[in-house]
Amino acid sequence: MNKIAIFASGNGSNFQAIIDETEQGKLNVEIEILVTDKPDCFATKRAKNHNIPVFSFVPKNYASKEEYEKEIASVLIEKNVSLLVLAGYMRLIGDVLLNQFRNRIINIHPALLPAFPGKNAIQQAFQYGVKVFGVTVHFVDEGVDTGTIIAQECFKVEGKETLAEIEQKIHAIEYELYPKVINTILS
Ligand code: GRF
Repeated sequence: MNKIAIFASGNGSNFQAIIDETEQGKLNVEIEILVTDKPDCFATKRAKNHNIPVFSFVPKNYASKEEYEKEIASVLIEKNVSLLVLAGYMRLIGDVLLNQFRNRIINIHPALLPAFPGKNAIQQAFQYGVKVFGVTVHFVDEGVDTGTIIAQECFKVEGKETLAEIEQKIHAIEYELYPKVINTILS
């Protein structure tokens, strides 16, 4: 079975959606490990609740990104992981992981790239007043949300919706789209 690693830094609700689909047999993967730069984040608790191993690290305890990515890479190689799934991982992936896992690292972004890359994408789009919101899954490269697009899904608004309503709708799309894309890539 295909082995995947999840990378997360925060709440981990996308991680949870992937766990749920896996446990329900809809997503045909083994979640080998959660990699996190925030040892106390809620994603870590979710991993523990589901007996998923965690590799957590504190970046400032390393001399460079290269140093901690070397450790991550060796753990992932040892576990025979074939896909790295970024789900709210708030760091740029560096050369060590990109070279080792080229075209095997994906990310989900809560906007229709190339519009609104980076942090707070939903708020950015809301403040801009866009009438079509959406979600993008893409391969990861050196840039901030710049890699080749794999899938997008969108919905229209009339302008009466609150930010909270839009956020909720975007997350609901993410929870369906990400597992679907993972299945497609791996099959
Ligand atoms: C998601 O909106 C995802 O698109 C973005 O970060 C958010 C992570 O949320 N990259 P969660 O940690 O999965 O709840």
